[in-house]
Amino acid sequence: MMTRPLLTLSGINKSFGPIDVLHDINLEVYPGEVLCLLGDNGAGKSTLIRLLSGVHKPTSGTITLADKPAAFASPRDASNAGIATVHQFGGTFPLMSIGRSFFVGEEPKKGWGPFKTFDRKTANDIAVKAVRDLGITRITDGDRLVGGLSGGERQALAIARAVHFGASVLILDEPTAALGVKEAAHVLRIVLQARQKGIAVIFITHNVVHALTVGDHFAVLIKGAKAADFRKGEKTREEVTDLMAGGEQMAELEAEIKSYMSSHPV
Ligand SMILES: Nc1ncnc2c1ncn2[C@@H]1O[C@H](COP(=O)(O)OP(=O)(O)OP(=O)(O)O)[C@@H](O)[C@H]1O
Ligand SMILES: [Mg+2]
Repeated sequence: MMTRPLLTLSGINKSFGPIDVLHDINLEVYPGEVLCLLGDNGAGKSTLIRLLSGVHKPTSGTITLADKPAAFASPRDASNAGIATVHQFGGTFPLMSIGRSFFVGEEPKKGWGPFKTFDRKTANDIAVKAVRDLGITRITDGDRLVGGLSGGERQALAIARAVHFGASVLILDEPTAALGVKEAAHVLRIVLQARQKGIAVIFITHNVVHALTVGDHFAVLIKGAKAADFRKGEKTREEVTDLMAGGEQMAELEAEIKSYMSSHPV
């Protein structure tokens, strides 16, 4: 672990009109580590990562990336700064081929660009190789449509793209949420591969097993505030589960569901 954080959030607040969503968030994200961002539905996780990916601007507070102020005016700005985000609920292009989607939105660098000097085949070869390098060897044809890939393959494609274009921060908003056990395990392995390349990964999940499998560092949001911040090994699985689910809230919810079910027989 490097001793200096790559990304630092200081005193971040975010409101939408009268609605306060995030309160005084302070957080450090290190290169070569996986930070798991945990918390109940509506806690503010996606909002927080939208601030990091240039979708929203903080109401107050500062973000620094590699010791420089990072006030992103747009997602393009964040992506140019090396922050790659795979948003919750996809964000891929179902009707595009693997090869084409891989290069979408990538500005030509130094006069070269996949669709200027690269032909379709080259774009396909690069995309397929990048995905296969992450262990998804089932993908062999870059002309296949993204919409025909499984959820795990789509996540792998998005991660491969981020790694290929040199992201230093990779943000994954619930990448394993819709996946079966095997597919999720595959995505988790890819997360660890990105970490091994020195990338700072921010991984949002509701799954305590997934979090504990890959996380080096954990931050828990409860109602828009950071309720806990700890490193691997500092809390037991039970403690983490309680924090993630909001502890007592879960027990209450369970009681509510039971009472609803008994008064509304199927
Ligand atoms: N553009 C917006 N305008 C108003 N309120 C918003 C906006 N975006 C988010 N919110 C509110 O902010 C709160 C946090 O939402 P957010 O999507 O960040 O939660 P989350 O932790 O990602 O939840 P989940 O686990 O369900 O994905 C919610 O109450 C949501 O309704
Ligand atoms: Mg969310």
